[in-house]
Amino acid sequence: MEVKTKSLLDNMIGVGDMVLLEPLSEDSFIENLRKRFDHNEIYTYIGSVVISMNPYKSMLIYSPEKVEEYRNRNFYELSPHIYALADEAYRSLRDQDKDQCILITGESGAGKTEASKLVMSYVAAVCGKGQEVNKVKEQLLQSNPVLEAFGNAKTVRNDNSSRFGKYMDIEFDFKGDPLGGVISNYLLEKSRVVKQPRGERNFHIFYQLLSGASDDTLKKLKLERDFSKYNYLSLDSAVVNGLDDATSFRTVRNAMQIVGFMEDEVQSVLELVAAVLKLGNIEFKPESRCNGTDESRVKDKNDLKEMCELLGIEQSVLERAFSYRTVEAKLEKVSTTLNVAQAYYARDALAKNLYSRLFSWIVTRINESIKAQAKTRHKVMGVLDIYGFEIFDDNSFEQFIINYCNEKLQQIFIELTLREEQEEYIREGIEWTNIEYFNNAIICDLIENHQNGILAMLDEECLRPGTVTDETFLDKLNTVCAEHQHFESRSSKNSKFLTDHSLPHSCFRIQHYAGKVLYRVEGFVDKNNDLLYRDLSQAMYKANHSLIKHLFPEGNPAKVNLKRPPTAGFQFKASVGTLMRNLQTKNPNYIRCIKPNDKKAPHIFTESLVCHQVRYLGLMENVRVRRAGYAFRQAYEPCLERYKMLCKRTWPHWRGPAREGVEMLMADLQVPAEEFSYGRSKIFIRNPRTLFFLEERRRQCLQDLATLIQKIYRGWKCRTHFLLLKKSQIVVAAWYRRYAQEKKYLKIKRATTVVQSYTRGWQARKLLRELKHQKRCKEAVTTIAAYWHGTQVRREYRKFFRANAGKKIYNFTIQRIMQKYFLGLKSTLPSMSPIDKNWPVRPYIFLDGVHTELRRIFHLWRCKKYRSRFTEEKKAVYEEKLEASELFKDKKALYPSSVSQPFKGDYLEISKNPKYQKLNSSVDEKVLLADVVNKINRANGKGATRILLLTKKNVVLADQKTGQVKASVALPDLTSVSVSTQNDGFFALRLKEGSASAVKGDFLLSSEHLIETITKLHHIGSAGSDGEQLNVDIADEFLVQFKQDKVCVKFIQGAPKNGNGVSCKRKNNRLLEVSVPASA
Ligand SMILES: Nc1ncnc2c1ncn2[C@@H]1O[C@H](COP(=O)(O)OP(=O)(O)O)[C@@H](O)[C@H]1O
Ligand SMILES: [Mg+2]
Repeated sequence: MEVKTKSLLDNMIGVGDMVLLEPLSEDSFIENLRKRFDHNEIYTYIGSVVISMNPYKSMLIYSPEKVEEYRNRNFYELSPHIYALADEAYRSLRDQDKDQCILITGESGAGKTEASKLVMSYVAAVCGKGQEVNKVKEQLLQSNPVLEAFGNAKTVRNDNSSRFGKYMDIEFDFKGDPLGGVISNYLLEKSRVVKQPRGERNFHIFYQLLSGASDDTLKKLKLERDFSKYNYLSLDSAVVNGLDDATSFRTVRNAMQIVGFMEDEVQSVLELVAAVLKLGNIEFKPESRCNGTDESRVKDKNDLKEMCELLGIEQSVLERAFSYRTVEAKLEKVSTTLNVAQAYYARDALAKNLYSRLFSWIVTRINESIKAQAKTRHKVMGVLDIYGFEIFDDNSFEQFIINYCNEKLQQIFIELTLREEQEEYIREGIEWTNIEYFNNAIICDLIENHQNGILAMLDEECLRPGTVTDETFLDKLNTVCAEHQHFESRSSKNSKFLTDHSLPHSCFRIQHYAGKVLYRVEGFVDKNNDLLYRDLSQAMYKANHSLIKHLFPEGNPAKVNLKRPPTAGFQFKASVGTLMRNLQTKNPNYIRCIKPNDKKAPHIFTESLVCHQVRYLGLMENVRVRRAGYAFRQAYEPCLERYKMLCKRTWPHWRGPAREGVEMLMADLQVPAEEFSYGRSKIFIRNPRTLFFLEERRRQCLQDLATLIQKIYRGWKCRTHFLLLKKSQIVVAAWYRRYAQEKKYLKIKRATTVVQSYTRGWQARKLLRELKHQKRCKEAVTTIAAYWHGTQVRREYRKFFRANAGKKIYNFTIQRIMQKYFLGLKSTLPSMSPIDKNWPVRPYIFLDGVHTELRRIFHLWRCKKYRSRFTEEKKAVYEEKLEASELFKDKKALYPSSVSQPFKGDYLEISKNPKYQKLNSSVDEKVLLADVVNKINRANGKGATRILLLTKKNVVLADQKTGQVKASVALPDLTSVSVSTQNDGFFALRLKEGSASAVKGDFLLSSEHLIETITKLHHIGSAGSDGEQLNVDIADEFLVQFKQDKVCVKFIQGAPKNGNGVSCKRKNNRLLEVSVPASA
């Protein structure tokens, strides 16, 4: 089986793993680094250690695709990359449950911080996903910009140099999902707050705040944008190429928000930052006192005032704290004045403390946010990014501390990789030639030894009563450490350095593992003491500002503590000790950063510089040990447990000692003997490739095993399913059969009933038929018997009857009936009135014709009788009535009412009434009709009463009162009479044109006896000698000649206006309208 190591070995520039370097020498080592660096290969391995060269340019090797490429791949499978190390660490954390730490070492500017960020971003990219997890990741990642803003600064070596040590534990759950983290910070370089070396800057946040904050915010913080206004900001390199402070400020604000800072917390933090700037601007002037000493006074109180306003401090309290100092002895309090220098010292101490405490608070606050919520057991991955080894021209207490820390890290590296490894070989009884390496434990001892270490000496000096200065401290060192191989000082008793002019008197030199460093003792005591006058901390505690108060708990007067606080050196030593112990419990992964040049420039490879780093990092020794030793070791039990599936004999259980099992396994797999050795408790595998081979086989085997498990599980599942189905099927079948049988039974039952009923029916019908037959037979017999008897009887009685008696009886009967009919008719005859409609009912149908004929005859007879009773006059009257009927029946609505009225003719009794004697005498003829009429006025339609007389020859109109004749018209002059169809009494007498009477025009009259009058007129007219008929026109519209005009008389049915009468109105000269009330 060939292991996939193609990428590491193929197309390789130089060698990717120094272990493979041939021949191995320092030159070839450096050459290999250079070659790879020139080809942009910044990572190289020494076994599992990653060497990282700072490229000083952005590389395209951190894309998400790269992350995917390195994800879940073996360490040596692909070309060297920091991701491979991160992946390895993450996977062994997740899969093997081993806590990890990633130790990143190197000089300042070598790329440690960048490396730590790359590791974190890789882990964030490959670990679990989900809303909660992503929030945790985001918070962990966003803690970086916040810490960098407050803890990083531009130095000559690095534009973004971390001025504090940082160790971050990322906590994961059993699945490998991040739960949270804990950040520890180590010794912030706080002296930078008040003073920065040439070419360097203060912490980024100051510049970011001034450039990036809005005008409004600055106003609130009482700040101005101009850097030059602030004493604490060095102007040398206020603006750094490639750093955009304003944008960074927004990034930081955003990051703070993501991490979980509340808005008011951010505000408080910014207020403190502003206060530090203000503090720097406070200046002092001497004021002579009577006893001849100078006392300091604040020069311009404006900044002091503004600062006090920002922090809510009472100005006078702070002002006093800058002028006086209260020293508390056991029983008494002594107040001494401060001179100007002391005041400045106090001011700077306050600024430094304020800032460093703020920084620590921020770290605590971040920890609060990112702390893991769940209380389950965590797996931990620690990432250590601590300040690198520093050698300046002028090194002080800070460098001493930093370099001490680096010594300790080197120590742990040596412990874990070199010494531990060699000791293990010996312990395990593996054949081994010892490799020489420099163990820096001795240097660590020089610094940290409890009794005579440099830090112990310093503490001792600081705590000692009497005058203590940096010089007395150096003297002490000179006596105590003179003999130490790594300690050099001009005045030590070691005569070697008496003439060494490179070693000034006020300095001492330590031969660190990474080189000699000259420390100037000036400031050591002060910085170690880290003294803040109690008056100042008390002033701070009194502040009306929650954060400030919180930062200076020792200022609480209730908790006055006369004991001195632990010194800076002591604190640092303690925290480094804790860190080391912590690291030792974890599986280390090393990233060793190398700086290719001093110019922060890409493509430049300064050989001497790299060589120096390679040497002090002990990389050569590292390679040698690696080459001589074994790449991998594992105790027999876990090894057997892990690989036992690769051999039939050991799978699934090996009964016997684990070592024999492993031997069996190796023999079975035919691993060449030189590839591994058996130690006492562990197997040592020389080459990673062998391990990959094992891992690959295991992976395949696991796949097969998984398939097997899957197969069995699937089989089991299918079988269970099948059995369930079968059981269900039986139940279903049973139910179905029952149902089918029931159905079949019911069907048969139904059929049986039908058959049965048919049979019964058939039997019943048969019986019925028989019974009926019997009954008919019986009846027939009876009938036959009856007829027979009848015949018998008739035959017997025939001789007693005569042959034609029947006809006689018939005729007799008819006679009787007719007699009875006529007699009955006589008694029931109706009355003699011709209009009586009654007639008796017919008694027999056969009399129908006779009965009708009798009725006709009787009617004719009684009519004749009736007529024979009439006189001549009465006859004339009836003739007249008949004529009226012919003229008007069904033509004029007035007619029916006239039928019952007798035609009297002379209504005025003209011959008898003396009033009309004269009139009567003026008419020669016999008056046929005399009546009062209304003559309609032709002009207005109003009526005037006149007497109308009708004789055989004339129609006469006379005045009613006087009886004087008004008009007399000879009947031949009348052409026609016009009446309406309606219920009115109007009539128009139309005169022949050209006749004598026609001069005045036609007459329009109205009479109460219209029907009689017209009938009489018509009768006389038709009986006239010339035989000309008098026409009677019946129409609702006719023309009347009035003098010259023809006027149309129109009858309308109108609603009566005044009573029931007929009204007549002349509408215009052509129309006369007569409205007649509608007949009821
Ligand atoms: N992998 C890298 N790719 C690109 N630039 C890098 C890389 N590592 C470091 N640098 C550059 O080097 C500078 C210093 O790196 P940094 O990690 O801050 O150093 P250290 O923390 O070791 O002092 C960074 O600001 C960056 O410009
Ligand atoms: Mg850094």
